[in-house]
Amino acid sequence: MTGSAPSFSRRQLFTATGAMAVGGVALATLAGCSTPAPAKTAMWTPPATPMAFPKGYVWGAATSAYQIEGAWNIDGRGPSVWDTFALYSGKIADGSTGEVAADHYHRWKTDFDLLKTLGVGGYRFSLAWPRIQPTGSGAINQKGLDFYKQLLDGLAERSIRPAITLFHWDLPQPVQDAGGWPNRDTANRFADYADIVFGAFGDVDADWFTLNEPKTHAFNGYWYGNHAPGLTDPNAAAAAVHHQLLAHGLTVQAFDAQGVKGRVGPVLNLTPVSASDPAAADQTKNVDARENRLFLDPVLKGSYPTDAIGTENGQLPADPAQFASLVKEGDLKTISSPIGVLGVNYYGVAGVDLNGDEVQIHPTSTAEWEQIWAPGLYTLLTRIKREYKKVPILLTENGIPDDLLQDGVDDPQRIDYLRSHFQQAARAIEAGVPLEGHYVWSLLDNFEWAEGYTQRWGLTHVDFTTQKRTPKKSFHWYSTVIAANAVAPK
Ligand code: FCB
Repeated sequence: MTGSAPSFSRRQLFTATGAMAVGGVALATLAGCSTPAPAKTAMWTPPATPMAFPKGYVWGAATSAYQIEGAWNIDGRGPSVWDTFALYSGKIADGSTGEVAADHYHRWKTDFDLLKTLGVGGYRFSLAWPRIQPTGSGAINQKGLDFYKQLLDGLAERSIRPAITLFHWDLPQPVQDAGGWPNRDTANRFADYADIVFGAFGDVDADWFTLNEPKTHAFNGYWYGNHAPGLTDPNAAAAAVHHQLLAHGLTVQAFDAQGVKGRVGPVLNLTPVSASDPAAADQTKNVDARENRLFLDPVLKGSYPTDAIGTENGQLPADPAQFASLVKEGDLKTISSPIGVLGVNYYGVAGVDLNGDEVQIHPTSTAEWEQIWAPGLYTLLTRIKREYKKVPILLTENGIPDDLLQDGVDDPQRIDYLRSHFQQAARAIEAGVPLEGHYVWSLLDNFEWAEGYTQRWGLTHVDFTTQKRTPKKSFHWYSTVIAANAVAPK
């Protein structure tokens, strides 16, 4: 399949086919979906004794600003594309917005005490650009900086290392109005914002992340149209890829120029893909280029793959010549500025058919795009080690939503998921992958983008009427893993 209709989307997967997932297992198997030959990695079984992690391994939990903060128009915050999209697109499953979300803006102390109880060494969160620079250029909102200063002090008091994401999809609306990411100048606007942040907090020893999942923001936001800003234009999506990566590179340069403490890198969501039909090798290669190499190669090798964009099945159906014309002299050098850490978000794997479409080869969670396959984490991490230059890796997101039938805090499927992924992480470390930490998505139930509040990804249950927090069973289980710095077999 070519053309504009999206065929492979981490968030639209199966919605068109009517497949339903209950209890973590898909009820409907797609026609034509064949089970691939078992990969070598599938044969590995975890040892009967606990698997220990290296001393200093960072156990963490992750969140993002728009998904938890609320307080959307308080203390000078400007509107973001997600405020606009949630209010006006009609595309949020339950018609909700992030106006209140988990009210973290007012309840952060409670939430940080939860982190302390959990015992994490790291907390990944994002700064809302429109809170710090409400119109996305020019004037700084001191109250926005003050809010994040409180958070950073609150983490320091609790001896929790911050992992700070500068951009988790909440672009200031005025920057969108000026063209958004398809406009090259947005990269400069972003670098200015990053400069402000580094000027304010550059003495904080942290892992700094430039952008979260530029792929999801570009593809879902500008191609599939189910995320803000809601466009369906593959050329705009391709431009959004390049300009986000450029923003990343400029930010790494600003980080170095300001001598900021800690280390900096991007957060990429990556996924092993395999052919569901032996004849679909080319399509699978294209999908791999589009989903993985389009982001890894420019950042770590200073080049774009040639098979990610075009009219073949499995490619991003934008005009390659138009894309090439956006890549100016020096851009790839900027984008490949040396990074200190690579953030990897891992949720699962995908099969690819002859049309380059995604097919199901493993059970999904209630998030139907999430095909659960823990050995895929090992496959992915060892592949990065094999094919790219050595850089410390943090798993910056990994998790699963509640089952549909789940009642409150009883979440055995999350414990199973995390256990099996921790085991594969330990296995990857044994194989020499420089993996230094693992952040579970998410600390709290929150606003899950187009799914609104219908999907709960938290280790902590949030009652969105009373804002009461209740740790789930997985929270307690995770705290025992952290305390032991080891994951025990089931
Ligand atoms: C990731 C996003 C995060 C959350 C999880 C479930 O792609 O980075 O905000 O939505 O998926």
